Amino acid sequence: MQILDGNLVSQATRDELKIKVAQRVAEGKKVPHLAAILVGTNGASETYVGSKVRTCEEIGFKSTLIRLEESISEFKLLGVIEELNNDPDIDGILVQLPLPKHISDEKVINTIDASKDVDGFHPVSVGKMVQGLPTFIPATPHGVMLMLAHYKIDTKGKHAVVIGRSNIVGRPMSILLSAGTNPGNCTVTICHSHTKNLKELCLQADIIVAALGKPEFVTADMVKEGAIIIDVGITRVEDPTKKRGYSIKGDVKFDEVAPKASYITPVPGGVGPMTIAALMKNTFHACSEKN
Ligand code: GUN
Repeated sequence: MQILDGNLVSQATRDELKIKVAQRVAEGKKVPHLAAILVGTNGASETYVGSKVRTCEEIGFKSTLIRLEESISEFKLLGVIEELNNDPDIDGILVQLPLPKHISDEKVINTIDASKDVDGFHPVSVGKMVQGLPTFIPATPHGVMLMLAHYKIDTKGKHAVVIGRSNIVGRPMSILLSAGTNPGNCTVTICHSHTKNLKELCLQADIIVAALGKPEFVTADMVKEGAIIIDVGITRVEDPTKKRGYSIKGDVKFDEVAPKASYITPVPGGVGPMTIAALMKNTFHACSEKN
């Protein structure tokens, strides 16, 4: 069994970007600039956005964090996005999800200029991804693909079972794994809350991507010997033994699944850091495409 070390691969990706940014600076070219919008004070979102902004600084990108009140109107938020669309210094825009209930995710995503859509959530980006055209790939599935590529894991012809069909992870993951690329070329089954024979399907999987957001959902009895396990879950679970009051759990029961797996991502330190690295790659491309 080999651990897929997201911290290590993410660091390698960030180091590469750091060099590329330094080259751009030396050539007098524009430095990539990411704008992140955080609405409200959701604890997990604060952590993720904080981490994205810190990583920008580490690599040498510019970043702007725009914090908005939970009560902001949808109209005002769309106005802020329009301003960023029209600002030539901003290369990438991300609006951290989830948004408060009175704001439509769809309207927000559709308002972001597709050329600055570093999250890859805009319908133009999704459409291009489905057609296999160059575009922004959503950061988490993009990060998983970078990880598979880094470890030179042969995915061709393998049966991948993706648990979860969210627009952020499960659905794009299923498209990328089934694409005629390397990594890719998998036969993909996408499972969700209405899937009847989930355990049987998982037992047939050479690769399981768990992205349903239910802590320790995937247990050893659902996993074939030698399977590759990608755990996308990051749920905060109350834990009075921890100073911060919670611990982070993945969607896979790591201790019992790991001995059966050929490769497995830990939580934390697996897919999470790769998500940030992929977002940084997208931001770099947004900038270098235009400048
Ligand atoms: N919320 C959870 N994951 C993501 C992500 O990748 N991007 C944004 N914008 N919000 C998220």
